[in-house]
Amino acid sequence: MKWRSALLLLSLVIIVIFSFILRKKLFSPSDNTGLVTEWHAPDTSLLSSTPEGQLILYGRQLISNTSKFLGPKGTVAAITNGMNCQNCHLDAGSKAFGNCFSAVAANYPQFRSRSGIVESIEFRVNDCLQRSLNGKTIDSSSKEMQAMVAYLKWIGKDVPKKTKPKGSSNDIPYLQRAADSAKGQVVYVSKCERCHGKRGEGILKADLTGYIYPPLWGDSSYNISAGLYRLSRFAGYVKYNMPFDKASNPSLQLSNDEAWDVAAFVNSQPRPVKFFEHDWPDIKMKAVDYPLGPFADTFSVQQHKYGPFEPIEKARQAIAKK
Ligand code: HEC
Ligand code: HEC
Repeated sequence: MKWRSALLLLSLVIIVIFSFILRKKLFSPSDNTGLVTEWHAPDTSLLSSTPEGQLILYGRQLISNTSKFLGPKGTVAAITNGMNCQNCHLDAGSKAFGNCFSAVAANYPQFRSRSGIVESIEFRVNDCLQRSLNGKTIDSSSKEMQAMVAYLKWIGKDVPKKTKPKGSSNDIPYLQRAADSAKGQVVYVSKCERCHGKRGEGILKADLTGYIYPPLWGDSSYNISAGLYRLSRFAGYVKYNMPFDKASNPSLQLSNDEAWDVAAFVNSQPRPVKFFEHDWPDIKMKAVDYPLGPFADTFSVQQHKYGPFEPIEKARQAIAKK
């Protein structure tokens, strides 16, 4: 009898240990890049059929299928270039390292140097509408803005205030040299062109309501005031997420050099010119890779666009210490 209960106890202990290991395996979150992440978006299937839940789901649709509602043939208004928010905020902003929205609810309203003001979520959404989607703003009181904001608040609801989970940004190390657009063109032709097209024009859906593969430059792409026009934003996003073949992309496919060089190539191609004269009211705060002058330092426009960025950053730190 005694050894029986001992055996029972032993097997119980083994089961507990195993289930712990298994749980760890199943729940140690890791995305398709093999990068360990700490954040997972809440489950949309848990959204009940309440009006609030419906609003959040509409917000999600607007973000994943923006063009259907707000594109050139949009059912709500024709105010954007045909791209979707999701083209850059992958899986409707739920994919870590894919410009995800994990840190939005926890950090907005927040001060941003580009505008020089404390921005609301609505302000930030309108920023991407005007720049990344090269379009027009929508009113804060519109159902569409309320839906997107409800979604953004919901998706980040479990993140503690003023914290940023790993994967909320996608920075990669600077190159020690300037990014090289000629080398970048070689990368583009071998690793990007098959989806994004010979002239970066992307591929439209047959019914013209949006893109299968979004454009990277030209009239229908983001404009020169968009985040992706900064080399670091482009290189980081592309390093973690492109080429976009989910099944065959178990690990990162671009080296850091390739990511920076292809960023230089794409951002040296023509795209819509829209300049916001009130951006960066304090020019000392301009991001090192923001390529539009005037600058508070003596580095060239060329270096602010293509790097190397480390000398610019070091010079700034030296001034700040004085
Ligand atoms: C062409 C790419 C692109 C598209 C399309 C785009 N965005 Fe963005 N968005 C970015 C980038 C890049 C950033 C980060 C910029 C930075 O770090 O300065 C960003 C930042 C944001 C942020 C702030 C995130 C944070 O953590 O602070 C929000 C909110 C946002 N976008 C919403 C949207 C919405 C809503 C849409 C569609 C209406 C949209 N974006 C479309 C590229 C894009
Ligand atoms: C297998 C097809 C494929 C390949 C190859 C590919 N992409 Fe993409 N790319 C996509 C798709 C699809 C999206 C939009 C993702 C979404 O909406 O979920 C995208 C989005 C993007 C975006 C953000 C949206 C935009 O249009 O500005 C950038 C930037 C980008 N890709 C750059 C690249 C670069 C650079 C390469 C080569 C290193 C590359 N891609 C290779 C399919 C691809």
